[in-house]
Amino acid sequence: MLGSIKDFKYKLVKNFLTKEETELLKQFTILFHQRNDSTFDTKQSITMDTMNYGNPATDALLLTKLKKMEEETKLKLNPTYSFWRMYTKFADLKKHKDRPSCEISCTVMVGSDNTPWPIYIDGTPIEMKPGDAAIYLGCDVEHWREEFQGDWHSQIFLHYVDANGPFKDYQNDQRQSTETDFDNRADAKLPDRI
Ligand SMILES: [Fe+2]
Repeated sequence: MLGSIKDFKYKLVKNFLTKEETELLKQFTILFHQRNDSTFDTKQSITMDTMNYGNPATDALLLTKLKKMEEETKLKLNPTYSFWRMYTKFADLKKHKDRPSCEISCTVMVGSDNTPWPIYIDGTPIEMKPGDAAIYLGCDVEHWREEFQGDWHSQIFLHYVDANGPFKDYQNDQRQSTETDFDNRADAKLPDRI
């Protein structure tokens, strides 16, 4: 489709979240991080940051923002999965592309200690304020971050596929539904990088 994200590849969306959504999700991720004793990132970073796949709260955001995502990308989309991570000092995000379920990716900034920490998408640094989001073709464009020097930075990831594209069968990340607790599946395959 002419004029879709398949042409422009990535974009910054200011105020993707309302102020109330931003505050709610910031508090949710801080409290989850403070109480977390079981869900840590053992793959991506030496900092063992708190991470969570398919949390009902972030999956709810995935569904709530579907229409807005379709407007922003000019595509009909199917939701795949949500994820969030509380980055802490010395965290990084190595240069990578994503797996098919991340064909249309959205990284949402929900809060931080105000340390600047841009994400680089296709070589362009993109700085986000709380509530802002960057939408990009996760499988096509390389994205990364430099080592984080601040204290905390909370980011939610929403993933979709083009409902008429080659990865349309990855809807719900091949879970039974977005309500399924994917983490507890015996054959759960966590993504290497988000
Ligand atoms: Fe990624």
